Amino acid sequence: YREAQKHSEELEATNQTIQQQNQIIQKSLQEKEMLIKEIHHRVKNNLQIINSIIRLHMSKENNEKLQTLLSEISTRIQSIAITHQMLYKKEQFLEINAAEYIKYLCQQIKNAFSNNSNIEMKFSFNNAEQQQLPLDIAIPLGLICSEVITNAIKYAFPNQSGNIYIHFECQNHQCQLTIKDNGIGIDLEKIKHSDTLGMELIKLLSEQIDAQYSFKVDNGTIFELIFQKHT
Ligand SMILES: Nc1ncnc2c1ncn2[C@@H]1O[C@H](COP(=O)(O)OP(=O)(O)OP(=O)(O)O)[C@@H](O)[C@H]1O
Ligand SMILES: [Mg+2]
Repeated sequence: YREAQKHSEELEATNQTIQQQNQIIQKSLQEKEMLIKEIHHRVKNNLQIINSIIRLHMSKENNEKLQTLLSEISTRIQSIAITHQMLYKKEQFLEINAAEYIKYLCQQIKNAFSNNSNIEMKFSFNNAEQQQLPLDIAIPLGLICSEVITNAIKYAFPNQSGNIYIHFECQNHQCQLTIKDNGIGIDLEKIKHSDTLGMELIKLLSEQIDAQYSFKVDNGTIFELIFQKHT
């Protein structure tokens, strides 16, 4: 009986030690999460400082071409900043909801053009709740989205009126982004041979996430991007 009692006491002690260790691990985990959150916050703030510097240059610049260039650089930086902003506002820091992210990003881009155009954006997402994207996919995807949307706003509608449809869905691990406008249509021959920065960025960023993409013309421009979501 004494043996059993001793054994039970020993067990109790081990149990307590494990519980204490658990608490330490929990605390350390919480601290790390706080830290990651804080880092996203700072990265976003720093990106915004860079943006402010660019905008300051813009306001002092008379050359119109340079102004446009600076404005485009600023939009590109802004779309990265948005990713970090969304991450620290959520209770999740390593993944981002594609539907929310794409929607927010596109609206920010449209606002950046802030003219009184009649361009409307329509979104559709399939089973959006399940579309969590890891950060290393979300950032390139956001930048690609930003290039295509910016182009549609800039070139598709010479009379400043039309629709842009944005669709995103994932099935199993395959995700597809479709951006379609009902504008004048892109010159497919021209973009094959041109080396403009926008197209170059789309190509490089797609390679980065192993995505396939295509441009088609059918009552406007259709951009399609397909990639695999690893977990
Ligand atoms: N949605 C669209 N509708 C019609 N034309 C388009 C559309 N998207 C792109 N284009 C045409 O394709 C060209 C190439 O686009 P790209 O983004 O590579 O260059 P850019 O927008 O002129 O310059 P950058 O993106 O480097 O600032 C554009 O100049 C435009 O003529
Ligand atoms: Mg462009």
